[in-house]
Amino acid sequence: MSTDVTSPTGSVRPAETGAATARAFPNLALVKYWGKRDESLILPVAGSLSLTLDTFAATTTVQLDPAGEQDRFELNGHLATGTARDRVTTFLDLVRSRAGSQSRAIVRSVNEAPTGAGLASSAAGFAALATAASAAYGLELDTPALSRLARRGSGSAARSIIANVALWHAGTDDESSFAEEIPAPELAMVIATVDSSAKAVSSREAMRRTARTSPYFVAWITSTEASLTEMVAACRAGDFTQIGEITESHALRMHALIASTEPPIRYLRPASIEVLDAVVALRDAGIEAYATADAGPNVAVLTRPADAAAVATRLGEILGEDHVRVVGPGPGAHLVPDPVPPAGEAGT
Ligand code: DP6
Repeated sequence: MSTDVTSPTGSVRPAETGAATARAFPNLALVKYWGKRDESLILPVAGSLSLTLDTFAATTTVQLDPAGEQDRFELNGHLATGTARDRVTTFLDLVRSRAGSQSRAIVRSVNEAPTGAGLASSAAGFAALATAASAAYGLELDTPALSRLARRGSGSAARSIIANVALWHAGTDDESSFAEEIPAPELAMVIATVDSSAKAVSSREAMRRTARTSPYFVAWITSTEASLTEMVAACRAGDFTQIGEITESHALRMHALIASTEPPIRYLRPASIEVLDAVVALRDAGIEAYATADAGPNVAVLTRPADAAAVATRLGEILGEDHVRVVGPGPGAHLVPDPVPPAGEAGT
């Protein structure tokens, strides 16, 4: 199909293409997003900044199913139900309302991140879904608009639309809250998987609890704004040491904040602390490495590309080399030609 059609609102839009496949990568925040000022629009209390990775992609095909009565979501070759399916349907409802379409869709997604590796797979997943769904339903979105759309699925997905270092502007409304690439020096990450079991409290729920119960929440917002301003300046100046110092202190502040909730939540495990100590020892030995951790026990270590192998070797001695992986800066979400095969077919 290539003819334009008139939507119910009267504007001309490209016809639904029917199917599209997109690929997106996870990102790791160097200045964290933690807390929403608007739950339904997913507007954050403060801006954040992340590195999009080159590993653990999510690939998602969206195929319109005009005869279908409900959306179908296949994840890693299995039919998804419950919350996972509901979040996809809620997201597609948003795309459908913008496209003026009633059509249900079949969504097939493959996520290359090992289960429980703590790699914000919802970020890669919703960035790929936003990119594929907007193309399949015939929405023509530029990169900021795609970032805004992905944000509605999962806040951190706004950043996975963007390559390399992404600055997510907190904004004050839907229009002003999106991510964009900013210049930065070459960075590498060493991912240390200390525990791959599922987390006890989801980020979404833990953020709510933080806003509701932590006495430190207001200080978190103001200090994050200050950290972000310093981080953006450090990125623009190419100051790796400053980038690293802000990364580690901001991550520790987030975990302190989370531990201050009622009832408390602690994501870091004893093995996480052992890795944090090893990172301090690496610095004492002259290797610049800085730790961060998302809402889980796994630790990611920011370093210069030239030092990544030495950092990986040291962390491998502690955790075993199978638990350590060097990753680099990756591309933004993009369309790809090959669809994800249906569940049950070879390769899924
Ligand atoms: C700790 O983006 O998963 O990884 O917007 O509720 O879907 P929702 O949350 P999500 O939270 C990510 C939290 C974090 C920090 C970060 O990525 O900035």
